[in-house]
Amino acid sequence: MARPSAPADRVRAVPPVVAGADDDDARADALATALGAPRLERAAWAAGAGGPIVVWVDAAGFGLRGPARGRASAVRPAPPPPGGRAGREPLLRAVGAGADVIDATAGWGVDAGVLAAAGRRVTMIERHPVLAALLRDALERWRAEGRPGAERLSLVEGDARSVLTGLRADVVLLDPMYPERGKAARKGEDLTLARLLVGDDGDQDELLAAACGAARRRVVVKRPRTAPPLAGRPPTGVLVGRTTRFDLYPPSEARP
Ligand SMILES: C[S@@+](CC[C@H](N)C(=O)[O-])C[C@H]1O[C@@H](n2cnc3c(N)ncnc32)[C@H](O)[C@@H]1O
Repeated sequence: MARPSAPADRVRAVPPVVAGADDDDARADALATALGAPRLERAAWAAGAGGPIVVWVDAAGFGLRGPARGRASAVRPAPPPPGGRAGREPLLRAVGAGADVIDATAGWGVDAGVLAAAGRRVTMIERHPVLAALLRDALERWRAEGRPGAERLSLVEGDARSVLTGLRADVVLLDPMYPERGKAARKGEDLTLARLLVGDDGDQDELLAAACGAARRRVVVKRPRTAPPLAGRPPTGVLVGRTTRFDLYPPSEARP
């Protein structure tokens, strides 16, 4: 299965794994082995080794630590707060009445969490092995904690361009990395860390075509408000928010 390549000016695709405490060593070892990543001792990391971003393992789960957040704490996938503002999310309006959704660019799982908390069944697809590992770990914890919606979330690690050929859902959501996300989005440390790790996403024509082939009702593409449409393809409907835009596309007729 194809893996994304990190542009040369960004960090390597799989950064080193650091254990936050001695008790976390065994899990950090297992994660490093699973990812094929180097292990880095805490003392070496504290002395400045390991590059700009590391995978951090501690009692709160797997996360990333990088330059944007200094060394204060790791950033991890986080579910929306219970009883939050999910009902008013523009994302929910864009997804409409669809009961099951494929989030084909899951990233930190934020959008997937909003949709699941609002009652949708969500299949997350993520191709970057580190983000997939973070999501898998978070999902296990959310289920163990009984987080609302956690039982409606599932994860497939792989490239959505191929994974989508074997799946169907009412709605497919796409939110690939965009090179210029606008001032507000660039302030988000979680997005900055994910960008450092993943780089910018290419392959947009193929991704949109695969999404249209898997959707029964519509494809929703999340974009910065002023960005051009994905793959240069004009949408058939648009919902515009303050910083974000949702472009809507019909399913393709090629797949029964
Ligand atoms: C901007 S982030 C998505 C953020 C996400 N909407 C959230 O709420 O956290 C884009 C993610 O899509 C993933 N991605 C891009 N193209 C993909 C593909 N073809 N298959 C699977 N994942 C993909 C990237 O690895 C990255 O993690």
